Amino acid sequence: MKSVNQFISSFDIDKRLAEADIVGSIAHTKMLCKSKIISKSDAKKIILGLEAILDDLHNGWKLPVDEDIHYAIEKELINRIGSVGGKMHTARSRNDQVTTDLRLYLKKELKNIKNKITHFQNTLINKAIENIDVIMPGFTHLQHAQPILASHYILAYAWMMQRDKERFVDCYKRIDVLPLGSAALAGTSFNIDRHYTARLLHFKNISNNSLDAVSDRDFVIEFIFCIVVMFIHLTRLCEEIILWINPEFCYITIDSKFTSGSSIMPQKRNPDYAEVIRGRFGRVLGNLISIITVMKALPLAYNRDLQEDKACLFDALDNTTDCLCIIDDMFRSIKFIKRKTLQSTEKGFILATEIADYLSLHNVPFRQAHGIVQNIVLYCQQTSKDFNNLSLQEYKKFSQVFEQDIFNYLNIDKIVNMKNSYGGTSKISVLHQIDILKQKLQYEK
Ligand code: ARG
Repeated sequence: MKSVNQFISSFDIDKRLAEADIVGSIAHTKMLCKSKIISKSDAKKIILGLEAILDDLHNGWKLPVDEDIHYAIEKELINRIGSVGGKMHTARSRNDQVTTDLRLYLKKELKNIKNKITHFQNTLINKAIENIDVIMPGFTHLQHAQPILASHYILAYAWMMQRDKERFVDCYKRIDVLPLGSAALAGTSFNIDRHYTARLLHFKNISNNSLDAVSDRDFVIEFIFCIVVMFIHLTRLCEEIILWINPEFCYITIDSKFTSGSSIMPQKRNPDYAEVIRGRFGRVLGNLISIITVMKALPLAYNRDLQEDKACLFDALDNTTDCLCIIDDMFRSIKFIKRKTLQSTEKGFILATEIADYLSLHNVPFRQAHGIVQNIVLYCQQTSKDFNNLSLQEYKKFSQVFEQDIFNYLNIDKIVNMKNSYGGTSKISVLHQIDILKQKLQYEK
């Protein structure tokens, strides 16, 4: 059984905040010095001590375990430079310190995630360019619907990732608020300069209410929510990768390093990597539910329940970075089997809408045209025929409007490239999409 101290300790989890904690403490010490709350020489000793600890940590040295990272660093400092180290904690509390650390840490992580998303978007764009001539069935209800360009499909994910990135960027605004100086809950009687600390730590704003500042974890909820939405997209993509490498589809191959064999069935290569990403969604959603549940009905201000925030956040973060790297590599290895995707467009009367459009173009109201084509499909099913091998006479039985040029409408390539409406699947329109996306990514730099 764990000792009581171990039970409330968060050190194992929050030790990764060490750098943020030290950077925050250095800024706080500089502010205390500038505000004449501690002397220059004391401040210098503290800052040099903290910098030495940070250096040692960078070189692989390990801090002695303590209740949490904040105590661990303070004790180590006092151990190294003597009791003057204890002046560092003037006019602050672990309550404003921990949320400052988290915000500092997240600001950095958010940039990292943003870069990874952009990297993945570039992989998607390159794949779209590489496969610009691949035609495949588009699906609704997982049934053949209308032919599309594979690139169009790939870019759909690039746009999802764009929204994901924008969501993170928006969330950044609310992370970029400095709580330090709120102390335990009430602020402090020392004449501190919070704006100065904010400038040193590159925070855009400072918090306006000390009670709110120490007990707010909305930004953690929001950050994990952004992760969850992004994961929804990753799971959808993984699901399709799983389907498409399945022999029933056989639309794509992926590098064998992203599959694994079965321990009993020698013939199998299973899409385990995509499945693990799909499965990780359970974890990240669990993290969101956990933090929301921790926060619900928590009275102001700080309560130790808040310490649970970090396990949820770090687990969600680690899954994000891992899964983004894997999906990026895996997607880069995808090869479309053009012959198979094209063959598949021959199934499911995928050109039915085109025939209805043909009738509409010849002045048949669309609703009526829809009914006529429904009858043609039924006829084809009963006679085991296809749109392509019906004669003009057969077409005319369903509507006199049909003429020889109906057969021009049955060319899959042509059909796809007629979908020229803005955002549609024609090659011109897809190339335009690529341009816009590229411009967006360029502009973000
Ligand atoms: N380890 C704590 C946390 O993560 C730090 C704050 C402790 N504050 C307190 N009043 N006990 O939340």
